[in-house]
Amino acid sequence: MTPIIIAAGSQSYEALVGSQLLEKAGRLLAPKLSGPDCAIVSDENVAARFAQALLPSLTSVGFKPTLIVIPPGERSKTLGEAEAICNRMSEAGLDRSSFLIALGGGMVGDLTGFVAAIYHRGIPYVQMPTTLLAQVDSSIGGKAAVNIAAGKNLIGAWHQPALVISDTDTLATLPPRERRQGFAEIVKHAIIRDAEMFEMLQHFDGKDLTALVRRNIAIKAAIVAADEREAKGERALLNFGHTVGHAIERAGDLRDFLHGEAVSLGIVAACEISVRKAGLAATERDRILSTLRAFDLPTRLPADFPRAKILDAIRFDKKFERHEVRFVVTSAIGSARLSKDITMEDIAAAVEKL
Ligand SMILES: NC(=O)c1ccc[n+]([C@@H]2O[C@H](COP(=O)([O-])OP(=O)(O)OC[C@H]3O[C@@H](n4cnc5c(N)ncnc54)[C@H](O)[C@@H]3O)[C@@H](O)[C@H]2O)c1
Ligand SMILES: [Zn+2]
Repeated sequence: MTPIIIAAGSQSYEALVGSQLLEKAGRLLAPKLSGPDCAIVSDENVAARFAQALLPSLTSVGFKPTLIVIPPGERSKTLGEAEAICNRMSEAGLDRSSFLIALGGGMVGDLTGFVAAIYHRGIPYVQMPTTLLAQVDSSIGGKAAVNIAAGKNLIGAWHQPALVISDTDTLATLPPRERRQGFAEIVKHAIIRDAEMFEMLQHFDGKDLTALVRRNIAIKAAIVAADEREAKGERALLNFGHTVGHAIERAGDLRDFLHGEAVSLGIVAACEISVRKAGLAATERDRILSTLRAFDLPTRLPADFPRAKILDAIRFDKKFERHEVRFVVTSAIGSARLSKDITMEDIAAAVEKL
């Protein structure tokens, strides 16, 4: 199992992808983290399935893990939950020398990374993603955040994990809808960076997920290495489909759509805008839409969905820096760029069409 190296600025860490890694986690972590005190943060669904495989593996090498279980779902990604986790860590005696493990999907990963960034002014953490979305995307790159009423991920920190362990066996129990949403980020990666993977996705049989996860981690790793803190524009390309996507999530009160489903719709809007303003061929847009449909991802909003709420949410979005829209467009599958020529009217027209 060759690790994928993520060279993020001054830090560099490995992502390990493969089978039966939870059972080996203790041995994989021992050379990287001293502990011995640590806490596993997980949600009810994930802890029930995988904590029993992970705990003995950690104790067998001398770590002393505390299991902290939180309710599942995006609504747990809050400052309140972060504080509750900090309190549990304090009660368990965790200090500056301790570390955290995020065992779960992107919600658990973002929240745990955030807590690790602030607890005692920062302690190390390990990502053990158990959803396809988290394995191909959120576990890599060190963006940690929680949501507040004003928007998603508005309170956060940059905090790179010490190690990422993606056990692809865990994906076997993913509900189909959760599995599908992971493909939205995979299609996004293909559109912005990897035309060859886009072709591959046309006849993907769902079997070799390990190779697919590895390829997507490599794409994200390359982008993060070029622009760790989204300062040069490179990393912003990962936001393709997300300006409208995040707004749809918020307009639906974080309940109507999963992140990946909202991103799928956001990709459709971004493609529409790209056809109008960036020279994307309509045939390429249509291929992207049919690829999303092939993975059972949404490409149309329900007729009665409050589209005005989407536009309101975009106006509040953090990507409106100094009231300027920084919108990611694609001119051809396999490449993307930031555009400053996209107006609110362009976005409104694309949302209207959804
Ligand atoms: N930090 C980043 O760079 C980044 C990138 C993309 C997305 N995100 C964030 O990721 C989150 C979405 O990720 P997600 O969909 O993985 O969220 P999630 O953690 O809510 O997981 C989705 C659901 O799947 C369940 N689950 C997880 N693993 C399972 C398994 N192996 N078997 C059965 N059920 C399982 C969970 O309990 C949950 O109900 C959002 O909060 C989004 O903002 C962050
Ligand atoms: Zn995303």
